[in-house]
Amino acid sequence: MGIELDSFKIYQVPEGRQPTAEEFEIATKVIGSFRPFMGGEVDQRSLLGKKLNWERFFLIKKGENVVGVLSFYLAKVGPYNLGYLDFSRQFNPVSGLFRFLIYRAVTIRFTYPESYISHFFIRPSARKLGLASQLLEYWLKYMHDHGISHVDLDVYEKNFKAIGLYQKHGFRIKKARKLPLLGRLLPGDSILTLTKSSETTEKQERVIDE
Ligand SMILES: CC(C)(COP(=O)(O)OP(=O)(O)OC[C@H]1O[C@@H](n2cnc3c(N)ncnc32)[C@H](O)[C@@H]1OP(=O)(O)O)[C@@H](O)C(=O)NCCC(=O)NCCS
Repeated sequence: MGIELDSFKIYQVPEGRQPTAEEFEIATKVIGSFRPFMGGEVDQRSLLGKKLNWERFFLIKKGENVVGVLSFYLAKVGPYNLGYLDFSRQFNPVSGLFRFLIYRAVTIRFTYPESYISHFFIRPSARKLGLASQLLEYWLKYMHDHGISHVDLDVYEKNFKAIGLYQKHGFRIKKARKLPLLGRLLPGDSILTLTKSSETTEKQERVIDE
């Protein structure tokens, strides 16, 4: 499944096919907010790569190269299904337990919304070509077609590029949160939760049409 136009292709890694090295690399891209409890790049990639759930990834190719990824939670299942044993094997039983508990505390929130965008990334060399817009629109339509009417995500308050992108696609700010202590370890100390509801969009469209 997917769409293919002249210059790009949006797709999922089909069940039963081994992911390519490039697909694996982009799906285990280091996530800044995981760094404080998942260690550096080597530990993080190794951990994230243990239990990849390819159903929760949409990828975008430009020509032959995989240049972007959107991963998400749906029905409480996310892109990385990590358990305590994965952490204890990567680190040690004590440090692994501590890190696993933080991981659970951070990610449990992602399972509350109907659907939640976990990670969204376009490689720097392929930015400003509209590829993020294409991937996001495709995924939103896919969710809508599968009966999902609410999508949430978190974004650092200072990530103006990403906020501009989401607002352009109908997301609105649901709440803002300060992370006074954790913020010192993370790439930013204020987070916005954005939300998009297809019902709201349809209502807005009706008002505009009238
Ligand atoms: C945010 C990101 C995904 C945008 O990717 P992109 O392919 O360059 O985005 P697009 O070309 O599709 O641009 C779509 C819209 O995003 C916004 N946008 C993109 N680049 C922008 C920039 N440099 N400054 C301001 N707005 C920008 C604009 O609204 C733009 O619409 P426009 O072109 O009509 O003005 C990309 O910069 C990225 O991967 N950043 C790092 C990871 C990240 O921050 N992810 C989001 C975390 S929640």
